[in-house]
Amino acid sequence: MNMTDFITQLPKAELHLHLEGSLEPALMMQLANRNGITLPYADIAAIKAAYQFSNLQDFLDIYYQGANVLQTEQDFFDLTWAYLLRCKAQGVVHTEPFFDPQTHTDRGISFKVLIKGISAALKQAETELGISSYLILSFLRHLSEEAAFETLEMAMPYRDQFIAVGLDSSEMGHPPEKFQRVFAKARAKGFKTVAHAGEEGPPAYVWSALDQLNVDRIDHGVRAYEDAELMQRLIDEQIPLTVCPLSNTRLKVFADMSDHTILKMLDQGVMVTVNSDDPAYFGGYVAENYMALYESLAMSPAQARQLAINSIKASFLPDERKLSII
Ligand code: HPA
Ligand code: ZN
Repeated sequence: MNMTDFITQLPKAELHLHLEGSLEPALMMQLANRNGITLPYADIAAIKAAYQFSNLQDFLDIYYQGANVLQTEQDFFDLTWAYLLRCKAQGVVHTEPFFDPQTHTDRGISFKVLIKGISAALKQAETELGISSYLILSFLRHLSEEAAFETLEMAMPYRDQFIAVGLDSSEMGHPPEKFQRVFAKARAKGFKTVAHAGEEGPPAYVWSALDQLNVDRIDHGVRAYEDAELMQRLIDEQIPLTVCPLSNTRLKVFADMSDHTILKMLDQGVMVTVNSDDPAYFGGYVAENYMALYESLAMSPAQARQLAINSIKASFLPDERKLSII
């Protein structure tokens, strides 16, 4: 069996995927036409050509602009469904995607429109594709904690449709502790919590996500590698890191895939997982992320299998379901 087939047949969970980041250029064009929106790009090739980033903020500027084509419940359904078909093709049996409500509510789209479109696609995937999912509501950290509180309030009528809250967008200058109170409130309401930390930000942000936000998982977390004490804690407590290799190289967190530290972390006993982050922008879905590790870091089949097992273990699935998949 070749490596692509081997990776595809491994049952995997994806734990770090922004639905807005799965908006492929072709669908962006289609939705722009359907909604009478003029894009600043002549064609699909021009959209792809614009995806040159030198850091996280460069990417976010283009990502938020792309999300403007999403207007109706059907648009959110189509976006989510297209992603789920990719999951099916690549052996992703369970996914815990993020959505960024503020990206949409701040331009006048109602929370109800987006949650209904997304949830309908997730439900259909369960019955038609055999893919289970838990949704994660992510707060934008460049906005205020007050705005995050308002978003959580707005979401409460739909509380059975998401399992966790998260924290994403511009990391530098927006440390986790800025959101300490809203995360405490979300936990008190019974939600799981995750946060992006240690992508561009320092190891101190990972400490803060753990100690101030009490998160269940760290999204990215690759800069933890710089702090031996933090590495030991991640190992001792088996705190999952949702690592996104292609994202990290496209956003210059690592200069080259051959510099990526994920397999070193894996071999040291950190609970690392492989994910695609924003696949439409970074050049690949979860299988392409595994393949990049094989091609640039000589990932072995045993390491690939361990990464896939980690993804199931680090998910929010009940233990019985985890065991039945692994
Ligand atoms: N980091 C922070 N915010 C994001 C990302 C990311 O990788 N992708 C989408 N929003
Ligand atoms: Zn992310």
